[in-house]
Amino acid sequence: MRLYSFSLWFFALVVGSVSARVSDSETFKNTFNLQEHLGSLSIYHEPYFAGLSSKFPESCEIRQLHILQRHGSRNPTAGDSITNAGYLAQVQDQLINGTFPINYTVPGNPFQFIKSWVPVINPSNADKLSSSGRLELFEMGREIFSRYNKLFDSDVYEINTAAQDRVVESATWYTYGMFGEEMANKTKYIYLAEDETAGANTLSGHKACNVYNEKKINQKKTKHVLSEWEEIFLSPIKTRLNPYFSDYNLTNDDVRSFFYLCAFEVALKDESDFCSLFTPSEVINFEYDYDLKFSFHTGPASEWSSIMGGAYIHNLAESLRSISNETNHQKTFFAFTHDTHIFAVETALGFFPDITHENPLPATFNPYTYSAKTSSFVPFAGNLITELFQCQDQKYYVRHLVNQQVFPLTDCGYGPSHSSDGMCELSAYLNSPVRVNSTNNGTNIFNAACEAQPTNVTVHY
Ligand SMILES: *[C@@H]1O[C@H](CO)[C@@H](O)[C@H](O)[C@H]1NC(C)=O
Ligand SMILES: *[C@@H]1O[C@H](CO)[C@@H](O)[C@H](O)[C@H]1NC(C)=O
Ligand SMILES: *[C@@H]1O[C@H](CO)[C@@H](O)[C@H](O)[C@H]1NC(C)=O
Ligand SMILES: *[C@@H]1O[C@H](CO)[C@@H](O)[C@H](O)[C@H]1NC(C)=O
Ligand SMILES: *[C@@H]1O[C@H](CO)[C@@H](O)[C@H](O)[C@H]1NC(C)=O
Ligand SMILES: *[C@@H]1O[C@H](CO)[C@@H](O)[C@H](O)[C@H]1NC(C)=O
Ligand SMILES: *[C@@H]1O[C@H](CO)[C@@H](O)[C@H](O)[C@H]1NC(C)=O
Ligand SMILES: *[C@@H]1O[C@H](CO)[C@@H](O)[C@H](O)[C@H]1NC(C)=O
Repeated sequence: MRLYSFSLWFFALVVGSVSARVSDSETFKNTFNLQEHLGSLSIYHEPYFAGLSSKFPESCEIRQLHILQRHGSRNPTAGDSITNAGYLAQVQDQLINGTFPINYTVPGNPFQFIKSWVPVINPSNADKLSSSGRLELFEMGREIFSRYNKLFDSDVYEINTAAQDRVVESATWYTYGMFGEEMANKTKYIYLAEDETAGANTLSGHKACNVYNEKKINQKKTKHVLSEWEEIFLSPIKTRLNPYFSDYNLTNDDVRSFFYLCAFEVALKDESDFCSLFTPSEVINFEYDYDLKFSFHTGPASEWSSIMGGAYIHNLAESLRSISNETNHQKTFFAFTHDTHIFAVETALGFFPDITHENPLPATFNPYTYSAKTSSFVPFAGNLITELFQCQDQKYYVRHLVNQQVFPLTDCGYGPSHSSDGMCELSAYLNSPVRVNSTNNGTNIFNAACEAQPTNVTVHY
């Protein structure tokens, strides 16, 4: 792999070019990149927005940078439920020892590869980053440092990170990518506990929210929606794959586990024969399963998304406002986190206006065209970047990038180009009805709704 690629797009291309084996039966084979449609288990890639240039706008100067960055590709998490390493390792054993009675004599059996397959999921690596996860974060730090080089004029940089190991390790590779061996001297790490003690500083969403956890908010509804959709999208796959087994009917969990084996093998060794078990439309329905889950959990179909995401936004807004405070010189702001947290912040910023609590995603069919695609917004190493510019008219402008692509903000007017350039004048951005409660009062709203204690550690996002 070439590491000396300045272009952000080149990186996505290199990582994205690992063999995506999809079914021969589908005609859009050459344009469908399966690994970019695995929900939040997708590999890092550019989303498909309006195609706005992410160059710095002409006659504007970058003044602040805010990074909200997810950890990189990882192993399955610890535990015995379906997405966990323990469960998947058991499926691996069962495939090899014949508990799944594959009938290899059926012509064209897509499970033929099992005969020579070497499993890679190992429960002793549960929760850890994969080697590609390390590389993603290192490369990202390197690219950010080079793109925003003008802003790096401090001796020491505060690095806020959710305290879980893989997030901390991600922050570490990232800061090595920025500073090399000077990293230790140039950074001050602030660890945010993944429990209630983090309060409104949380970088792990609902884990800091007593009320949400104790009342099991959204759990029942989410479970119900997911089981309804599961029946719909997995049934035809079971019917299609059953003939490749001898006297055995696949269960929903069996098929799900093949999807997860596909995703985690891609995360661990860049490719997977399990991916070739599925057609592109089946994969897109698996993607929808993730979008439903995130959307009902702390995304746009939940009344709690603006509470979960709002505290970060309030903190961000304070830092943006501080640009006009002569005594305040911090230019770069780093926070390392999880997919669910980024998704809640993006929801609270108003990125998904087509989905609401009153008008949620349907459980009975995949509408295909909707905004809140986890694959695009929170793949492994996904990020939300906030840029603050000062332009020729001396005004300040805000722009968001999602995975290094400009997000087309539409709720707060135009930037200095007087066209839909993804930029909003700072006060229009802060006062847009979509997010004004969060920018002005997000911390209090979080503290009140979650019954959280005010935090005693000051962080800047
Ligand atoms: C196959 O592997 C599973 C999971 O590890 C185990 O429970 C089962 O006993 C094994 N069966 C045989 C026949 O070895
Ligand atoms: C870090 O700082 C210490 C103390 O100032 C200094 O001795 C050391 O050489 C520095 N290390 C690097 C890698 O810059
Ligand atoms: C396996 O598949 C072959 C070919 O389709 C079929 O003749 C045979 O009966 C199957 N074996 C079992 C045990 O189902
Ligand atoms: C599989 O399901 C079919 C249809 O429900 C049923 O007739 C058959 O007995 C099942 N086979 C096994 C092995 O459970
Ligand atoms: C400016 O920043 C300083 C230092 O962070 C702070 O004490 C002061 O209250 C700020 N002033 C305004 C007007 O926000
Ligand atoms: C903002 O807060 C006000 C007052 O609490 C409330 O009436 C309004 O619905 C909130 N707006 C949004 C978009 O949540
Ligand atoms: C801020 O939020 C708190 C908690 O929900 C609420 O009591 C207060 O009225 C809000 N303040 C404003 C100015 O909206
Ligand atoms: C902040 O509060 C937590 C929990 O109450 C406490 O354990 C910690 O020592 C406090 N930290 C500081 C810097 O006061």
